[in-house]
Amino acid sequence: MPVASALVCVRCSARYAVDRFADDCPACRSAGAPSNLTVAYETSPGDGLPRRETPRRPGFQPRSMWRWDGFLPVAAADAVSLGEGDTPLLPVPGLGLGDLWIKDESRNPTWSFKDRLASGALSMAKRFGARVIASSSSGNAGAAAAAYAAKAGLPCIVFTFVGSAGPLVLQMRAYGAMVVKVADKADRWRLQSAGVRAFGWYPTSPFFGPVVGSNPYGMEGYKTIAYEIAEAFDWSPPDWCVLPVCYGDALYGMWKGFEELRALGWIDRVPRFVAAEVSGSLAAAMTGGDAMPPDVARNAPSIATSIGASQGTVQSLEVLRRSRGAAVAVGDDDLRRWVVTLAAKEGLWPEASSVAPFAAIERLRADGTIARHERCVALMTASGLKDPGPIEAALPDPPLVRGGLTELMSALKDAYGFDHG
Ligand SMILES: Cc1ncc(COP(=O)(O)O)c(C=O)c1O
Ligand SMILES: [Zn+2]
Repeated sequence: MPVASALVCVRCSARYAVDRFADDCPACRSAGAPSNLTVAYETSPGDGLPRRETPRRPGFQPRSMWRWDGFLPVAAADAVSLGEGDTPLLPVPGLGLGDLWIKDESRNPTWSFKDRLASGALSMAKRFGARVIASSSSGNAGAAAAAYAAKAGLPCIVFTFVGSAGPLVLQMRAYGAMVVKVADKADRWRLQSAGVRAFGWYPTSPFFGPVVGSNPYGMEGYKTIAYEIAEAFDWSPPDWCVLPVCYGDALYGMWKGFEELRALGWIDRVPRFVAAEVSGSLAAAMTGGDAMPPDVARNAPSIATSIGASQGTVQSLEVLRRSRGAAVAVGDDDLRRWVVTLAAKEGLWPEASSVAPFAAIERLRADGTIARHERCVALMTASGLKDPGPIEAALPDPPLVRGGLTELMSALKDAYGFDHG
């Protein structure tokens, strides 16, 4: 297990002392590009470990992302874990999108990839002696924080806003979190940061604006997605990784994970990354060469509420530029179409935001950015049960059948177009 030695700016590489959590980089904030900090270690993560044997240990080990603790700031034995990670990587050649694989993060304990973030953050919160956990989240991050706080035996306050998806808020409440709604999204930061400063609440999510990203220790958890993908492909990484992106925590974490494997010589190149977003903020910054992604206000909310922020982050931009990647803005019609397609064709039901990568890949294959022979991995970040509303309107209503077989066959034909022929 490597020991954290500094918190380093993702943009300018300025080093700051290890702390319980992080504000942003003061130097980059003055330069108009507020940036997140990431964990640096005394020794390179994974250093001295043999490539193939690394994750396998003698004796019983629950399956989780903590089999990679040689790359993480906490030992598996001390982690707050619910068995997160080790998710399937599924081939989906039938979607018409070429050589495509889905990393299905909906199989995590709270049914989203945020469990890797929450497990990393809560493990360090426990180590730092935190007494209260605080998260501002419209959904998945709050649900994960609530579950992992429950496991750690710590009280958890989650700030949501009026209009966030019902099942997600219910999930937070079920795990015993103290859920608080605010009328204006910006009030979440104001209240959370006041609690962090006044009472030492431990933030697992962004807690001030402009948002730079989440808790750096939590983000370390996302590196394990890269390790799992690289291992599954026998250390021959895919050409592209495509993610639904809001603040770019997973984007940065996955990229960092691949970079670490390259530094160790376990892989010889890092995939290119695509941010599938709804705002178009990162796409604008990539085209315009901006230091800070612009705020792109929308007239109407997207059905992909989990990635609904109107402004991208510097950490996302860094990954896209350094990996020679791309950003693609996707709209509701494409999202709805891909949710229905994945569910009906592949038996996978993702949340609306989680299908943004498929719409992005479709576009980038068509315009030649992603070449015909290149392999893509799409990160399917959360289950459709989290926010079922958007798909319901796109599905036929189940008919009520009162009679016998004749009435049944006619109802099947009317409602679903089904006919034995
Ligand atoms: C389902 C889902 N997908 C994607 C994202 C984007 O995450 P990130 O902030 O890591 O870009 C979120 C949360 O913000 C989410 O809940
Ligand atoms: Zn900086």
